[in-house]
Amino acid sequence: MNKMKLVLVLFALASGLAACDKGDSSNTSSNASAESSGKMIDFVTTQDSKPLKIDPALFDTPAAKEFMTTGKNPYIGNAEAIAKGKKVFQLYSCTQCHGPDAKGQVGPGLTGPDYKYPKDATNKGMFETVWHGTNGGMGAKGIGLMDPNDPKNGITPDELLKIIAWVRSMSNVTGNE
Ligand code: HEC
Repeated sequence: MNKMKLVLVLFALASGLAACDKGDSSNTSSNASAESSGKMIDFVTTQDSKPLKIDPALFDTPAAKEFMTTGKNPYIGNAEAIAKGKKVFQLYSCTQCHGPDAKGQVGPGLTGPDYKYPKDATNKGMFETVWHGTNGGMGAKGIGLMDPNDPKNGITPDELLKIIAWVRSMSNVTGNE
């Protein structure tokens, strides 16, 4: 009798585990399902590490959505995105302060590996720094923050990821580890 029960329990356990297995593998094999779950990672400001709220609707491309949920920059190493990022870097005058090769001018170099804000060695950290600005002389560049009088002015998340991909292409830091 006891033996019979044990067999039944084992059987139930085994089929339960098999079901779990299936669920897991279908989740992990698809990035799309992680994206569509839409859960935003916790962004923090570089000034004081307080929570940084960004409207999820601004993450409006597949790459931006992936970044929003993983903190990884899908444009690293993508030649097309890097070329676009270089243009946006010039467009928003980053060049004036950080130099045409991001090696520094009035502002510090951005190629690392050592940063004033150590978190800038990660793509999430650099995103937060540029989006919301620093304590020591750089204003926020994120859309809606750059110019309080013009909510449409500023860099979109997708543009910022391309800028970062370009900056990383000038350096040995990839930032996605
Ligand atoms: C008006 C000059 C100016 C402009 C324009 C500017 N920056 Fe900066 N940036 C600075 C200064 C100054 C610092 C150092 C701030 C500090 O020490 O807090 C800085 C810091 C940074 C850092 C942090 C570096 C570190 O060592 O941690 C990053 C990243 C950065 N800037 C990226 C950008 C990008 C990208 C743009 C264009 C969208 C941009 N900056 C535009 C002046 C500027």
